[in-house]
Amino acid sequence: MTEQKKNGSEKMWGGRFGEGTAASVEAFSASIHYDCRLYKYDIAGSKAHAAMLAANGILSQVELTAITDGLSAIEREISAGTFVFRRELEDIHMNIEKALVERIGPAGAKLHSARSRNDQVALDFKLYLRDQCDEVMTLLGGIRRAFVLLARKYLGRIMPGYTHLQRAQPVQIAHHMLAYYEMFGRDQERMVDCRRRLNLSPLGCAALAGTGLPIDREQVAGILGFRGVTANSMDTSGDRDFAIEFTSNCTMIQLHLSRLSEELVLWSSQEFDFVSISDKFCTGSSIMPQKKNPDIPELIRGKSGRVVGSLMTLITLMKGLPLTYNRDLQEDKEPVFDAVDTVSASLAIMAELLENLSFKTDRMAAATRKGCMTATDLADYLVLKNVPFREAHGIVGRAVAYCLDKGCELPDLSIAELGQFSEVIGKDVYEVLSVEGSVNSRISTGGTGIQRVEEALLAAEKQLGIGR
Ligand code: ARG
Repeated sequence: MTEQKKNGSEKMWGGRFGEGTAASVEAFSASIHYDCRLYKYDIAGSKAHAAMLAANGILSQVELTAITDGLSAIEREISAGTFVFRRELEDIHMNIEKALVERIGPAGAKLHSARSRNDQVALDFKLYLRDQCDEVMTLLGGIRRAFVLLARKYLGRIMPGYTHLQRAQPVQIAHHMLAYYEMFGRDQERMVDCRRRLNLSPLGCAALAGTGLPIDREQVAGILGFRGVTANSMDTSGDRDFAIEFTSNCTMIQLHLSRLSEELVLWSSQEFDFVSISDKFCTGSSIMPQKKNPDIPELIRGKSGRVVGSLMTLITLMKGLPLTYNRDLQEDKEPVFDAVDTVSASLAIMAELLENLSFKTDRMAAATRKGCMTATDLADYLVLKNVPFREAHGIVGRAVAYCLDKGCELPDLSIAELGQFSEVIGKDVYEVLSVEGSVNSRISTGGTGIQRVEEALLAAEKQLGIGR
């Protein structure tokens, strides 16, 4: 059952229509309930467009003033929550334009000269995403700062480093923290890159072919802080690469957050007992009074699905679309908005959680003393005594098997016991068998050796402007 409007004339595009839109179609096709989020960008874009139209003789100064003042008044109403959005006007562009015409009359009806909603929506979306790149970069700065503070606080303290989630080699806690500093640093770089690539103005491409009116695209781009204009009007009206790129960057951030979350869940378990997450960031169980659960990392880990889902939505949306604009493209905004909301909230709360995190350094250090974690150091010791590495690997493997049998660790073996495996082993071996000796020896660039980590930490502090 569809209710028909008397005619199509109340639509801004209603001229060629004899019948009104079915109510079901209005409900199905409207985007105003979510694209209203773009209102500030739509208004900024319209103001810039109007200024350019006036500079090029398409609007008079009087009309320009009326349009600019009218748009400012509408913006104030929307910000104050008093503006009434109308679903029958479909989207944010037509809601604002209609309100302008109602407010200022014929001058308002001239605003859409040399413009289509196709380049208008691309403009709004790009302006919005440009701001979001900046927001996310700020949040990334916040979480990177939290890692640097933790690295400084626990500098010199050791923990097991893992491969396959098996104890592998001892490392500094600070080194582990700075690993995340690097990961989120790459995320920042990706956002810088994304921002730069998207920062070209689409306005003036009009529907798909450009316009015959005497416009100045560069002027609009300049007013809106773009670094230039897009090169091809057809590419521009159907392009959403920038949205995919941004959401892909968000996905990478959320993946990094999920890895961190997984580690926090593990580390806060009684099995590891490496960290204590502040009570403020945990919740209890409704049935088990003893429980303290790491809900925040779990939720962040879980929310990865939403961000990956948004990326999949966008990729699937674009696949196989013919040039240029297709209404399918209206489906681009919700996944991006959800990705923005999810990543921003996750980054902010994770930074706060890290600021309230404490490491149980005795437990972490104790964990490095089990599992023959200095076996590689013994192999390296043999290499320095001219034993080929493959042979050294076998020797140490046999020594580890001996320890496992005996229920002891490598540093517990006497020189006589070690001598059974290789005659080149001397008393100096104990220096490399200690966990501290092992950590300190890893001075290769990027390694966990004390001086390397100090250098990395100083560089990070300098980069973030953390004074020492
Ligand atoms: N609401 C539309 C969108 O988000 C705006 C562009 C509509 N253009 C059109 N020719 N129907 O894509």
